[in-house]
Amino acid sequence: MIPARSIEVCVFDAYGTLLDISAMIERFRPDLDDTSEAFFKLWRKRQLEISWLPRRMAGGADFWNVTAEALEEAMSAFGLDDNALRGRLMGAWLEPDLYSDVSDSLHRLREGGIKTAILSNGSPKMLAAGLRFTGLDTALDAVLSAAEAGVFKPEQAVYKLVVEHFHMEPHSVCFVSGNAWDVTAAALSGFQVVWVNRTGARSETPPRGTGAAITTLAELPALLGA
Ligand code: LAC
Repeated sequence: MIPARSIEVCVFDAYGTLLDISAMIERFRPDLDDTSEAFFKLWRKRQLEISWLPRRMAGGADFWNVTAEALEEAMSAFGLDDNALRGRLMGAWLEPDLYSDVSDSLHRLREGGIKTAILSNGSPKMLAAGLRFTGLDTALDAVLSAAEAGVFKPEQAVYKLVVEHFHMEPHSVCFVSGNAWDVTAAALSGFQVVWVNRTGARSETPPRGTGAAITTLAELPALLGA
């Protein structure tokens, strides 16, 4: 449960929470046919796994490079070697799809007096391009990249960026993510955490640290009393 009116700022994960990376599957189906789903699943899995390697964090937490490295692995696994396709696939991270429930929810939160922000592993360049493309750049009070901390989520130093930026107690922060590992790590840093379970999967066993579960961001303003 999230106590009514306890939230001053609502902070969102980007990829898989506000930005619909699963939409890439259909976008690239003309190129990848019936392997599209498996290809993107492997690419995303390796992107996250590489970002969690301690050595990669020491390299300055550049999610663009991590994404490119994971793409090489996915392309090699699927026997693809096409530079034009490689460029278009990376470009998809700069021109992402927005989930249809995002804009209205952010607008209502801000109207209700709650600040909005992103905290993402995405590099500043990826986030700036993607937010400009989707029009979200004007809907947020802050865009915080893990690169500022030099490590990736789920390192606690990344979540601390929020507290430092807004100068408020973690308990006044609502963190919203569709990624289970992110939900658990955000809760450990003291935030009140909302899990967006868009697919309805494993609703019986929400990630540890889940304060409330929703299936669409349309539910969020009422949940936070905005
Ligand atoms: C993000 C990715 C990792 O932080 O989902 O936006």
